[in-house]
Amino acid sequence: APAGPLQGRTVVITAGGTREPLDPVRYLGNRSSGKQGAALAETAAAAGAQVHLIAGIMDVQAPEHAGNITVEHIETAAELQAAVQRAAPEADLLIMAAAVADFRPASYAAQKIKKTDDGENPVITLERNPDILAETVQQRRTTGTGPKVIVGFAAETGSAEADPLELAQAKLLRKGCDLLVLNQVGERLVFGRDETEIHILTAPRLTAAAAGAAAAPTAAEAVVTTLRGTKHEAA
Ligand code: C5P
Repeated sequence: APAGPLQGRTVVITAGGTREPLDPVRYLGNRSSGKQGAALAETAAAAGAQVHLIAGIMDVQAPEHAGNITVEHIETAAELQAAVQRAAPEADLLIMAAAVADFRPASYAAQKIKKTDDGENPVITLERNPDILAETVQQRRTTGTGPKVIVGFAAETGSAEADPLELAQAKLLRKGCDLLVLNQVGERLVFGRDETEIHILTAPRLTAAAAGAAAAPTAAEAVVTTLRGTKHEAA
């Protein structure tokens, strides 16, 4: 591995989208190019880290060729959960850039679902997938072991009632991760594009540590850093 600021560190990155099978030929999926996660993996590797990339479905090729990146391919959220649980104990840094399907079909049809002569439409019942990020944070809290730094991602459009930064701030606190990267989703923004604008929200605990404060601040205000550039630079 090249010398660099992350030399000797293990970085686990999840990237791409999950696919939740409905029958042998169909699935529910999330839109995700995987570009950000792949760029993060390359950047961490170039900084000297040992990188474990847990790759879901991506438009871009996972960077398998670089010497200090190992790639593990997964498809479903359940597979991602198992992979993260196996990898988390060794990780110094866990970056959850994958777009995980929040729901999966409650049952899998072993045969292809067919159109029927009676004209009835199939009803697909969904169930919740585990929240892998929140669960990993929770495990670190209860066991005192796990990644030193856990980074979550959020893609928000905002709404008339809430601006994306407020939603991201709430998500940072709800998930309990150390950093949250906000991608703003809009007409010309984010999906599959090379250029992006991200906001990095830092949890109060890390902010306090970085500032050398003795105690964590009581106010739950995140520090926001905004970066613009290509996904490669943004990494
Ligand atoms: O709640 P939301 O899906 O917007 O949160 C996004 C963050 O949570 C991402 O870091 C994503 O990888 C993670 N996540 C997860 N498990 C889920 C859903 C999202 O780990 N079931």
